[in-house]
Amino acid sequence: MAKEIPKHIGIIMDGNGRWAKKRFLPRILGHRRGAEALDRLLKAADGMGIEHITVYAFSTENWKRAEDEVSGLMNLMREYIQDYIRDNETSRLKIDSIGDLSVLDEDIQQNIKLLKEISKDKPGINLHIAINYGGRDEIKRAFKTMANAIKSGEIAPDEISEELIASYLDTAGVPDPELIIRTSGEYRLSNFLPWQSAYSEFYFTDKLWPDFTIDDLKDAIASYQNRDRRFGGRNEGK
Ligand code: IPE
Ligand code: IPE
Ligand code: MG
Repeated sequence: MAKEIPKHIGIIMDGNGRWAKKRFLPRILGHRRGAEALDRLLKAADGMGIEHITVYAFSTENWKRAEDEVSGLMNLMREYIQDYIRDNETSRLKIDSIGDLSVLDEDIQQNIKLLKEISKDKPGINLHIAINYGGRDEIKRAFKTMANAIKSGEIAPDEISEELIASYLDTAGVPDPELIIRTSGEYRLSNFLPWQSAYSEFYFTDKLWPDFTIDDLKDAIASYQNRDRRFGGRNEGK
């Protein structure tokens, strides 16, 4: 059994809308409570031995939502990134992002860049925020860069390996997530880390994201620790 703490946990933070609806509150308030839940979780998880946490904040498909929800989410992200910059001095988090930032408002792009720079030597958890992230979009962008590298003679087609492909993804240099958690009772990946999750363990809970606590994270890790990870082999004698 995998008794160790996963080094990398992916979290699909789902259910903010339903959390708000249940309370007759606007959806954006559910998103705000969701952002607060993440904040609390990151503080409580510090020191547990988790090295990387990747959180799904906004997918390439989420643009389909109503304009006021999309702009509300962008403003919430803007505010949180500013808060993380303000609190950087006392924070232990190393923060960066995955996803295509190029279509976001210029100030958000600049602040994410700044946050990455000022937090890069922090000793705590590596927080990777997936913003305008979609796994297929990530692979498409990697293909384009790789095709250009082949065209210019930088790499030869024969050199393409799984490792080389991984090095063109947004997650280059980050180990694959051992554990992926999804809240709110949905049993799907919704385009989150499809390449990287080939051998991840999955944990699903009915809890809506704003209600997710450190105890829920510990339950997810305990469940992971009871899994028999075979990677296609047989784990004989175990
Ligand atoms: C997850 O909560 C956050 C984002 C997708 C941005 P949802 O907004 O999807 O919440 P539900 O699924 O409608 O409850
Ligand atoms: C996935 O949740 C995206 C995020 C949590 C940011 P969605 O609510 O967008 O996923 P679907 O639409 O239920 O698949
Ligand atoms: Mg949802």
